[in-house]
Amino acid sequence: MDKRKASGVASIALLAVISSGCSARTATSQSGNTDMKTTWGMTPDGQTVELYTLRNSKGAEARIMNYGGVLVSLKVPDRTGTFGDVVAGLDSFQDYLKPPPYFGAIIGRYGNRIGDARFSLNGVEYKLSKNDGQNSLHGGARGFDKRLWHATPLSPQSLELRYRSADGEEGYPGNLDVTVKYTLTDANELRIDYSATTDKETVINLTNHSYFNLAGEGDILAHEVMINADRFTPIDKGLIPTGELKDVTGTPFDFRTATPIGKRIEEKDQQLIFAGGYDHNWVLNRTGNGLETVAKVTDPKSGRVMEVLTTQPGLQFYTGNFLDGTLKGNGRTYTRRSAFCMETQHFPDSPNKPSFPSTVLKPGSTYQSTTVYRFSTL
Ligand code: GLA
Repeated sequence: MDKRKASGVASIALLAVISSGCSARTATSQSGNTDMKTTWGMTPDGQTVELYTLRNSKGAEARIMNYGGVLVSLKVPDRTGTFGDVVAGLDSFQDYLKPPPYFGAIIGRYGNRIGDARFSLNGVEYKLSKNDGQNSLHGGARGFDKRLWHATPLSPQSLELRYRSADGEEGYPGNLDVTVKYTLTDANELRIDYSATTDKETVINLTNHSYFNLAGEGDILAHEVMINADRFTPIDKGLIPTGELKDVTGTPFDFRTATPIGKRIEEKDQQLIFAGGYDHNWVLNRTGNGLETVAKVTDPKSGRVMEVLTTQPGLQFYTGNFLDGTLKGNGRTYTRRSAFCMETQHFPDSPNKPSFPSTVLKPGSTYQSTTVYRFSTL
């Protein structure tokens, strides 16, 4: 756990770079900031991977790399003002090539699963890469999490990432131009704005796959979760939605009142058994299309609180059931249920579920969505 205090963050970080004597270089951003970019590694095909550090006036810090648009670390204060990293990250770029299960990455073109790795649009069937049994998960074998993005710092607190996904990439139609903007606000919010356009009708579902642990250590079973959703999308054994929107009342999926994650996770419930814990999409209660608070997580130990605001209709709440202790980073071992994800999104398998909100993007239209992770303390 990182014990740095707000006032020392910038100077200690600078000292660390100087004293390590490594080849990391600094560069000047468009905004004139001199220490937000560091060379972090090289892709197997020889492209330079950069790591960007965003800092706000409160001492919070987010590190993002242009490979996968990965949020590598996010340091926010606990109730005593001590800064700690609340996301799962790895210590070197090489570790991200193994690759980890989407740690901190931007996911596309289609976040979550598409059943049988295929869908039809206007009578044409598109076959996708199968990378999760018979299904396609998180964009296929080489999704946006394994691509180098073009990064442009907009200010010391904001980074824009751009990527062009070529027509046919991973089986999806249309050249898709994607822009993702990360902003670390002075209200200790990490805001992510997504937009995209296409030159051919396609489907799209972008999200971020950060794994959170508000204590920065241990498991997440005592974290208390509230999700503002009356319904969720039940899944089959392959974790593909059945199409039903099921009422959460009387089930372990009722998080309308804050409940510790561990309270019901081991119940003999078929849905929990299929996924080995929570790994489901909630149908968010929404009043409109704007940014609304849809979830809140509290860690009684550190006193850290995370609220999730989004424009999206769904939320995949995943409790790190597949983490098995083989990954290590930031002084931690990522064991089962040592982190959770709140992936704001459209519902899984929407291209094959006409009753779900549409994920179709047409030429001439712009896909836009925003999600905010807001941090505070009890
Ligand atoms: C998502 C999925 C999970 C799992 C993780 C990555 O959250 O819903 O089933 O695949 O990504 O391990």
